[in-house]
Amino acid sequence: MKPFELPPYPYDRLNDLRAIANERHAYPVDMSIGAPFDPPPPSVVEALSASGLERGYPASNGIAPFREAARDWMASQFDAHVDATTQIGATVGLKEFVAGIPHWLRLRDPDKDTVLYPAISYPSYAMGAELAHGRAVPVPLDENWNMVLDAIDPADVARASMLWVNSPGNPTGAISNLADTAEWGRSHGVPVISDECYIEFTWDGPADTIVKYGTEGVLAVHSLSKRSNLAGVRAGFYAGDDELVRWCQEMRKHTGMMMAGPSQHAAAVALRDQHHVEVQREIYRDRLALMITFLAEVGVTAPMPGGGFYLWAPAPEGAWNLATRLATDVGLIVSPGEFYGADGSEYIRIAVVQSNEAIADLSNRLAS
Ligand SMILES: Cc1ncc(COP(=O)(O)O)c(C=O)c1O
Repeated sequence: MKPFELPPYPYDRLNDLRAIANERHAYPVDMSIGAPFDPPPPSVVEALSASGLERGYPASNGIAPFREAARDWMASQFDAHVDATTQIGATVGLKEFVAGIPHWLRLRDPDKDTVLYPAISYPSYAMGAELAHGRAVPVPLDENWNMVLDAIDPADVARASMLWVNSPGNPTGAISNLADTAEWGRSHGVPVISDECYIEFTWDGPADTIVKYGTEGVLAVHSLSKRSNLAGVRAGFYAGDDELVRWCQEMRKHTGMMMAGPSQHAAAVALRDQHHVEVQREIYRDRLALMITFLAEVGVTAPMPGGGFYLWAPAPEGAWNLATRLATDVGLIVSPGEFYGADGSEYIRIAVVQSNEAIADLSNRLAS
C-alpha cells in the first residue's frame, strides 16, 4: 500500500491573501471559513459549568438528557420520530464523524470501499474516504446543484459503502429532495448519510430531514455548531437506522469518541431552546441580503441561497484572481470554489460570519 499523501489544509492556502489584506487595511474581513461569529445563548454558556459531569468519563453514546433533547427537537421542529436509545448517538461536533464514518463502514463490509458524495461539497466527505484508504467518487450535479444519482456508474454503486447528501448544501446552498435520495439509497442497497447541519437556516420551503421518510438505511447527522453558535463546544449527533446507529455506537465506544460531559449537558439545554435560533435566522437572512448588495458594488453577482449562510458566486475573472482582488481592494477574504471540488473552480464562497459593521466597513473602504 502506498503511503498516504496529506494534502495542504484548504484554508491554510489563504494565508497569502490574509497577508495582503493585513498590509493594506485596518483589519481583514475574513469570510472564508464558516466559523460562527455571533454569541451563543448565555443560558447555554452557564449550563457548561453546571453539569457536575467533569469527574467521570462521559457516555460515548450520549447521556439520556442529551439524546432525549435531540429526539424531542427532531419531533417538534421537523415532525421526524426516532427512538432516543436505539436510534441516536452523540458526536464530538460533526467533522470527526464525517471524516470517520467511511472507515467504520468499510470495517463493516470490507468489499465496499467507495464513498459517493456531491461533486461540489464540504471537503471532509472526500477526505474521510481517503483516510479510510477508500475511493472518493464525486456525484455530478445538475444546474440547481443537486446530485444526478442516475449518472453514477453502476460499478461504483456496487462498491459504495455510503452516499453523502447535504441539504441545505455547503457551499451552494442547494436544497435536496431527501425523500427521493432515501428511496434511491434503499433501492440500491447504499446507506444514505444526510448532513443536515444547516437545517435551521432553510430559506426555500420548510426545513427537511431524511429520517422523516423512514429510518431504514439512512442516518441524519446534526451539529450544534451552526444552529447555536457552539462550534467550540463540539456537539452533534447522528440519528436513524437502528443497525447503522448500533454499529457507529459500538465503533465509537471502542475508539473513545466521547463528547465532553459538560458539553452534553449544555447541548441539551441548547436543543430545548428555539428562541435563540429564530433570532439567529433573522440575523443571517439580513446579513445575506446586506452582503449580496455589497458584492454587487464590486461587480460580483451572488444569488440568495436556498439555505445556509454561504453565498456562492460566479467568478468569470477566475476564482483566485477575484479572491486576490477582493483582499487587495477591500480586505475581504473569501474561499476559491476549488476548495469544494474541481467543478467549483469558477466560483467563490463567501460565509456571512462577520458583523454587519464589518460589512459596512467594506463599503467604506470601497468608497475611499
Ligand atoms: C456541511 C458541513 N458538515 C459538517 C460540518 C462540521 O461541523 P462541526 O464539526 O462544527 O459540527 C461543517 C462545518 O463547516 C459543514 O459545513
